[in-house]
Amino acid sequence: MPKIYNGEIIENIPVGELFLVTVSIGESISIEPGQFFLIRIDREDVILRRAFSIFDVDEDRLSFLYRVVGRGTKWLSERRIGYSLNIFGPLGNGFSISQGRFLLIGGGSGMAPLYYLGKRLRGDVKFLLGAQTGNFWGKELLSRYASIGDIEVVTEDGSLGKKGLVTEYIDTNYDRVYACGPIEMLKNIRIDIPTEISLESKIACGFGACRGCVIENKYGEYKRVCKDGPVFNLKEIF
Ligand SMILES: Cc1cc2nc3c(=O)[nH]c(=O)nc-3n(C[C@H](O)[C@H](O)[C@H](O)COP(=O)(O)OP(=O)(O)OC[C@H]3O[C@@H](n4cnc5c(N)ncnc54)[C@H](O)[C@@H]3O)c2cc1C
Ligand code: FES
Repeated sequence: MPKIYNGEIIENIPVGELFLVTVSIGESISIEPGQFFLIRIDREDVILRRAFSIFDVDEDRLSFLYRVVGRGTKWLSERRIGYSLNIFGPLGNGFSISQGRFLLIGGGSGMAPLYYLGKRLRGDVKFLLGAQTGNFWGKELLSRYASIGDIEVVTEDGSLGKKGLVTEYIDTNYDRVYACGPIEMLKNIRIDIPTEISLESKIACGFGACRGCVIENKYGEYKRVCKDGPVFNLKEIF
């Protein structure tokens, strides 16, 4: 059951162009990879909570990996150790967990939910991560991913790893693919193996009541990203 927790910040640090915040909520709870939390932004000009996928779970410690894009994420990046963050979750459905060979594709901050997913999958995990330039990732961040699976990075300017777009380097020798990133990246995943994608939308209530986050799938059905998703089968969406 989702609940409001007061998470005491124990770390909030830049990792390349992203930030990693870890809070202690004082109890261990069950969270599936791909689920997300809504973080309350205590600024008068930000009304809605902001959504962040779970990056890692370690006993009572929850971590979120985020990119500063606007007022809410800027406010979050300025919170210091000891600040009590009001978080609501876990929300959404999460990725399926099985055994086999898996390819995890992350575009930009879309890499966030894949770390905890990689930790929970049983079998061989390969991360294929893409960004505009190599400065996007901090070295320690890439080593964390490398500690749980093979890793290949692709940058648009070729400054780190292979040059181009992640979708140019997808190999299909896997049992299942998981992906999170910009919608254009997800649309360009044209493969025939089972693929789960995590989608974003503007989130308001977060638990399925307001229908503010609805998207239309390929069959003309309306789906709530916060409740029916954020994880969907690729073939259901594109
Ligand atoms: C289920 C879910 C999980 C998410 N997980 C993560 C995560 O792990 N890490 C992370 O960095 N971000 C994640 N996001 C995106 C994150 O919620 C937005 O970046 C955040 O809400 C922006 O808030 P802001 O106040 O800083 O920006 P705003 O001031 O609200 O907007 C700044 C800019 O960002 C755009 N924007 C705002 N909200 C979103 C959104 N939800 N999706 C796309 N663009 C948006 C606006 O259109 C605008 O251009 C997730 C979103 C969803 C729906
Ligand atoms: S945000 Fe209210 S239904 Fe999804």
